[in-house]
Amino acid sequence: MQPLSQVLPPSASTTPEGHLSVGGCDVVALAEEFGTPLVIYDGGLLRDTMRRYVSAFRAHDARAEVIYASKAFWAQALLRMAHEEGLRVDVASGGELFMALHAGFPAGKIVMHGNAKDARELGEALDAMVGLVVVDGLDEIALLDRLAGERGRTQDVLVRVTPGVKPSTHQYISTGQIDSKFGFSLEGGLAAGAVAACRAAPNINLVGLHCHIGSQIFEIGAYRLAAQLLAAFVKEQGGDDLTIMDMGGGLGIAYTREDEPPSVEAFADMVMDSVAEEWDAAGLPRPRVMVEPGRSIVGRAGLTVYRVTGTKDIPGVRRYAAVDGGMSDLMRPMLYGATYEALLPERPEAEATEVLRLVGKHCESGDVLIQEADLPPIGPGDLVCLPATGAYGVAMASNYNGVTRPAVVFVDNGEVTPVVRRETYAELVARDL
Ligand code: LLP
Repeated sequence: MQPLSQVLPPSASTTPEGHLSVGGCDVVALAEEFGTPLVIYDGGLLRDTMRRYVSAFRAHDARAEVIYASKAFWAQALLRMAHEEGLRVDVASGGELFMALHAGFPAGKIVMHGNAKDARELGEALDAMVGLVVVDGLDEIALLDRLAGERGRTQDVLVRVTPGVKPSTHQYISTGQIDSKFGFSLEGGLAAGAVAACRAAPNINLVGLHCHIGSQIFEIGAYRLAAQLLAAFVKEQGGDDLTIMDMGGGLGIAYTREDEPPSVEAFADMVMDSVAEEWDAAGLPRPRVMVEPGRSIVGRAGLTVYRVTGTKDIPGVRRYAAVDGGMSDLMRPMLYGATYEALLPERPEAEATEVLRLVGKHCESGDVLIQEADLPPIGPGDLVCLPATGAYGVAMASNYNGVTRPAVVFVDNGEVTPVVRRETYAELVARDL
């Protein structure tokens, strides 16, 4: 297990029987009790990471705000925890807004995102009185202005700027390029046009800027470059209304034993120092900094346990092992070519002597969880665990092939708290008329 320790929660250990344990709970026993696939989160690590985030940013400036990007994983229990720990929440749709309000987030702490918000969603945000709306298009600015006016209100907004910084990451999840559906680019004057449109809109109160340069970022120097470009833009725009600088999310996590992501503290230092230094150098008053981490809060805390249904040997080609889940609970390998490690909860220390292709149960050749998994010999009935599936796993789950979405449990200090139950077959037909 040693080489895999960085992809597992730090609480991972082995029980006296030699099973994998997380948060003081035997993973094999959890799989037996709750069935598979099962998504297990180390609740202590979730809380600890949230605390580290808040204290790392506030150590630089007590006004700093950490906004949890709920798209990464949105169970009510997690949202409630984020609220308890003093985070704000980023929602990217009316549905995510509903879930955040339902979890008890005061509307003032909600940041409403989305590149294609419609009138209904903007109306819901206005009616709930969300703290900030991040505007992402000129049509949206006009619509929001009208809807706010109809309600006799003004709405605080940030303009989403695309600084054109391209961190080294998978191209599908890089959102800071100029050729992007997100935000207003600095180049070509689009961002300047958006700032002008907000300033001219009577029912919109421009309070700052937002940028999100990408996701799964290890090269955090990219945030310095973004801060440099943004400070120059703020200076050029003049005025004293751009008092908030939301630097987005993006800090990467370890998915494999080779990955060495920067720490939350290093990320906080980079973001806070860059903004402070760049704003100082431009002779501007320092803004209130916000960040929006998703993956780096929930990714490492989660792991998924599957049961092997069978193996298949193709002589001279390879060995396959199929499990009882796949692209319906973990889409990232298929969508982004993302790589994961695997280990056996029943014998995590066993020597990996085989290379096999770990596949899911879906009617799709591309339903491959791990192209080449190094594992001890396995067979039907064995459990397999994929670490670091806590972000964008169940959040992107589907019912493809009528597969029901998995149960989710939190473990901490030897206690297990079920937080989402497994979906039922009845729910698969519940919406049909
Ligand atoms: N803020 C905004 C405006 C975002 O668009 C995102 C992610 C975040 C914050 C949070 O970023 P994070 O800290 O999680 O990197 N499904 C993809 C990731 C898509 C990210 C989209 N935006 C994946 O599984 O890798």
